[in-house]
Amino acid sequence: MLYLPEILFIMYKRLVSEEWDFKTANTKEYTHCYHSYPAMMIPQVARKLLHDYAPEGKFETVFDPYMGSGTTLVEASIIGKKSFGTDINPLAEFISSVKTTHYDISIMKKAFNNLQNELFLFTPEKVINTNFSHITSCDFWYSQENLIKLSYLTQIIDNIDSNIADFFRIALSEVVREVSFTRNGEFKRFKMSEESIKNFYPDTFRLFEEKVHRNLRGLKEYNSAAPNGKAIICNFNSSINIPSDVIPDGSVDIVVTSPPYGDSRTTVAYGQFSRWANEWFKFDNAKNLDSLLMGGKKSDEPKFNTISIRKELENIDSKEHKRYLEVISFLNDYSDSINNVSKSIRIGGRLCYVVGNRTVKGVQIPLDYFTAEMFEANGFEHDITIVRRIPNKRMPTKTSPTNEPGKKVGTMSNEYIVIMTKTH
Ligand SMILES: C[S@@+](CC[C@H](N)C(=O)[O-])C[C@H]1O[C@@H](n2cnc3c(N)ncnc32)[C@H](O)[C@@H]1O
Repeated sequence: MLYLPEILFIMYKRLVSEEWDFKTANTKEYTHCYHSYPAMMIPQVARKLLHDYAPEGKFETVFDPYMGSGTTLVEASIIGKKSFGTDINPLAEFISSVKTTHYDISIMKKAFNNLQNELFLFTPEKVINTNFSHITSCDFWYSQENLIKLSYLTQIIDNIDSNIADFFRIALSEVVREVSFTRNGEFKRFKMSEESIKNFYPDTFRLFEEKVHRNLRGLKEYNSAAPNGKAIICNFNSSINIPSDVIPDGSVDIVVTSPPYGDSRTTVAYGQFSRWANEWFKFDNAKNLDSLLMGGKKSDEPKFNTISIRKELENIDSKEHKRYLEVISFLNDYSDSINNVSKSIRIGGRLCYVVGNRTVKGVQIPLDYFTAEMFEANGFEHDITIVRRIPNKRMPTKTSPTNEPGKKVGTMSNEYIVIMTKTH
């Protein structure tokens, strides 16, 4: 007689492969260099998935239901495919939109020259807007000097042609975070020590110029490489609904995505990372984003039936009911989203979900099994799950679930790429 773990192992076969490590790959080619973002997908992974697991027959459209910084969309564009992406984080929408736009390089260079001249002529008296009330605790997070300089950058960018201004705002967006007193290398908003602040003199304008130079190089590569597949950037919540006037049911040929692996509060803090830019640009929901992302709203009981992770959930519940409810809340939204995504894919279409199996209260949750199980209930057959090692710093191998600065727990060092085909 076979036990459940053995059955699952056979049903949802995992293939450990070094081919997917891309340890030394340049992950900053094309417009992938534009803006950092938590838990970005390696472009080479999206590229290889689109190549190796292209669906049989029609292959015109790609969909990413949690697009983040738009890695999948850029890769789809480069091979001439039409793509759709959605994310309820306005910063993600903004980054993805700029990364998939083919700005004219000579126009951008000219505009940049003009901006540099304006920077040269900077004096604090020229700054028109000195009201920073839209920034939470602005004096706590910024020096007055940097607020004034950021305001000047905003002012001179606002004065250029609105069709191209976003290219420069994307560089500003990173600077807004980098010159704040937030600790480097963490997605959550932890302030630097007083000692570090004393020695912190970022050169705001130089940082901005460096980023624009870098982005211009990426844009040039993107413009010369891409056959120009159109990318459609959306902001709908994939757990609630996929609007059929945007993506008709049964129209998508392949989904390539990396969903969150837990709620933002206890795993990857998308909302906190993005808050600097979201507040600076007065984007919607800047302050409460984490509560809107998957798992942000608490539920009391599971809305799904699972065999694959039942034991793990029971185990977590027996250790701490509160943590169990957090996990359930995320899985409820995640399974709703899987039901919606399933409908959008055509028969014969593929899905590639890059997921992380995180550990809660010492119990590892095999999200790859759960993902396969949920899609199976929606007419999909499991092809293979590729196990790849997480390279360098993309994914935090440690997170801070208790929200105490410096207190971190190990999460995982592999990711699992679940590949399935819709059969009925
Ligand atoms: C792992 S990240 C995606 C990273 C992306 N592959 C990249 O390369 O940048 C997951 C994304 O899911 C988004 N997200 C969370 N809940 C969502 C929901 N209900 N609908 C749409 N997007 C959501 C988060 O804002 C986050 O950007």
